[in-house]
Amino acid sequence: MTDLAIAANGLRKSYGDKTVLDGIDLAVPEGTIFALLGPNGAGKTTAVKILSTLITADAGETRVGGHDLAADPQAVRAAIGVTGQFSAVDGLITGEENMLLMADLHHLSKREGRRVAAELLERFDLTEAAKKPASTYSGGMKRRLDIAMTLVGSPRIIFLDEPTTGLDPRSRHTMWQIIRELVTDGVTVLLTTQYLEEADELADRIAVLNDGKIAAQGSAEELKRLIPGGHVRLRFTDPAAYQNATSALPEASRDDESLTLQIPSDGSQRELRSLLDRLDSAGIEADELTVHTPDLDDVFFALTGGTGIPNQPKEAVR
Ligand SMILES: Nc1ncnc2c1ncn2[C@@H]1O[C@H](COP(=O)(O)OP(=O)(O)OP(=O)(O)O)[C@@H](O)[C@H]1O
Ligand SMILES: [Mg+2]
Repeated sequence: MTDLAIAANGLRKSYGDKTVLDGIDLAVPEGTIFALLGPNGAGKTTAVKILSTLITADAGETRVGGHDLAADPQAVRAAIGVTGQFSAVDGLITGEENMLLMADLHHLSKREGRRVAAELLERFDLTEAAKKPASTYSGGMKRRLDIAMTLVGSPRIIFLDEPTTGLDPRSRHTMWQIIRELVTDGVTVLLTTQYLEEADELADRIAVLNDGKIAAQGSAEELKRLIPGGHVRLRFTDPAAYQNATSALPEASRDDESLTLQIPSDGSQRELRSLLDRLDSAGIEADELTVHTPDLDDVFFALTGGTGIPNQPKEAVR
């Protein structure tokens, strides 16, 4: 367990008779990005709040930064930084004052506080706005200030609850770059997101949270492999060529209306080549050939929708 920044076993949390987390396990190696992905109400924020000591779990064992969450929450707090789902920025004071307030909370000296604040404001491209009230900042600027504030104490483990929700595509890419740089410096990041693209872009590992349970866990590639649906589609304009193709490829599912055939495939070069060879030797020329590999959207809908996929994987991939 020593190289795990976060290790949770059997985390449970209920509010009244509503079970929010129904026994979840998480393992996040140091220096990696872990994404907790799930629809609204899945329990993402609840998990982050438990892991960051803001609320306590009803059951389960958790170690964060090598410290037991229940036995030594103070040590955990000293090792982590948290950027909540909703901004912690005080709009009435300036960006710089927000930063200095954080420096105070971390017991930095006045001088050290100013140095760290100036450095982080610079790094997050907020130097120019530093003396303006934070209420005048755009959503992207506020989010950057939020993360800058989280970094004041130089945490080794950072929790980011929906860091890019509400940001435009450019600000989102800036945020991704910031998160990647954190990890280059050896920091461990656990983030939550509703964006599959974000998990796909950033995360070394992804856990899909649904109904209080982890529906699947693994790299983006591993998760995509859980879902059937990779196929090659051949479209024809000539009905005779289409008919020839249906007899040459008896395993294909056919759509006689649109003259298209769909052949299950993992999209690999080897499978494509063998398909093309079969078409060639039968003298068949399709008008259009497209390769479809399942994306994280397919995974997400299959795992969190509860319909469509007959054999929904219950076991996490490890
Ligand atoms: N303090 C609380 N008291 C009662 N129920 C709560 C409390 N906090 C959360 N819940 C419930 O727990 C469930 C999970 O909430 P949580 O905020 O963890 O979801 P989430 O995955 O973060 O959702 P979102 O994507 O909307 O942020 C929801 O049904 C919510 O209503
Ligand atoms: Mg939330």
